[in-house]
Amino acid sequence: MKTLRIAVYPGDGIGPEVIEQALRVLEAVVAPDNRICLETTHLPWGAAYWEKHGRVAADDFLQVLRPFDAILLGAVGWPEKIPDHVTLAPLVTIRQAFDQYACMRPARLYPGVPSVLAHKGPSDIDFLVIRENSEGEYVDNGGRFRRGQPDEFAVQTALHTRRGVERILRYGFEMARKRRLRLTMITKSNAQRYAYVLWDEVLEEVAPQYPDVTADRQHCDAAAMNFVRWPERFDVVVASNLFGDLLTDLGGVLSGGLGLAPSTNTNPERRFPSMFEPVHGSAPDIAGQGIANPVAAILSAAMMLDHLELPQAAERIRRAVAAALGAGLHTRDLGGTLTTEQMGDAVLARLSD
Ligand code: NAD
Ligand code: IPM
Ligand code: MN
Repeated sequence: MKTLRIAVYPGDGIGPEVIEQALRVLEAVVAPDNRICLETTHLPWGAAYWEKHGRVAADDFLQVLRPFDAILLGAVGWPEKIPDHVTLAPLVTIRQAFDQYACMRPARLYPGVPSVLAHKGPSDIDFLVIRENSEGEYVDNGGRFRRGQPDEFAVQTALHTRRGVERILRYGFEMARKRRLRLTMITKSNAQRYAYVLWDEVLEEVAPQYPDVTADRQHCDAAAMNFVRWPERFDVVVASNLFGDLLTDLGGVLSGGLGLAPSTNTNPERRFPSMFEPVHGSAPDIAGQGIANPVAAILSAAMMLDHLELPQAAERIRRAVAAALGAGLHTRDLGGTLTTEQMGDAVLARLSD
């Protein structure tokens, strides 16, 4: 029997609420398989940990996480008490230190889920945003000068490497080959003429090596508009770190809302553990009420199973989610009345369907 060691980092706000349901589903889907056993280790990091220890995670959090097969994260952030850039620092550090450069965020509208776009349905909204997750605009590179003075200034410089751009584009092309053979690269090279022109040049070099994939590029402003008016034209979208962040909240809402949107932080070479988490944050506005939608966390757990080479188990989860949503079983964010736990029950009940 193979043991899969999962680090569970529920985090703050609705993080622990949705992770509880994701774990129930994971355990149920893995239990009948006597070849694998799931061993979960809870890491109590986040705002509560900060109150006790004066920091949001153990000092050696990277060493703690390193030996695991995967990390399942809920959400982090409790802005009322702790500045976001403090609570969120470990998350960004994990992505970068573990070279989780491929952040995959599918935007797929499930049948039965109301669309925010008039005249668009499940066959129109099914694309995959691949966000470069290890460098770009998220590099910790800059400083504040003359703090508090009227002439204070801040510098924050993004960093884009040829190697980083090339590998995420290749990853995107490979994904397009598993999907509908289209790739759209999103930058802002008309205004940012160093970094994003490098992206353009690398695309020109790489695209001819994938002649079966139709590749094009759009500027981020136009892409935001096109996501809304022509979502059906997108298949695989590759974007830099910041643009990928923005476009995946948009993709999330187009596919039914953030309560449904899953994400990976993948280290494709498997030199480090990959991390799986919903696109959404800790949702302080609804935390503690038991009404958060756990589906994004459940679908993130399914993506973790894909990564752990258990695609059938992952597909069983997706089918159960589709069946529950299709039967009109919805939490409040989708106009329904189900609690977080009842939504977990609804998915669990359909696992064998
Ligand atoms: P958010 O994603 O937490 O919430 C945005 C809106 O979506 C809110 O109205 C919320 O109620 C709703 N929502 C989100 N997830 C939902 C769910 N599962 N079910 C039902 N409704 C849901 O974004 P925010 O309010 O901008 O940020 C809150 C905190 O989370 C901040 O501290 C922010 O920095 C942090 N954050 C963390 C992550 C992460 O952990 N990866 C991601 C985004 C934001
Ligand atoms: C996300 C979040 C994070 C990001 C924050 C919490 C740092 O918005 O995962 O989309 O910007 O990457
Ligand atoms: Mn985001």
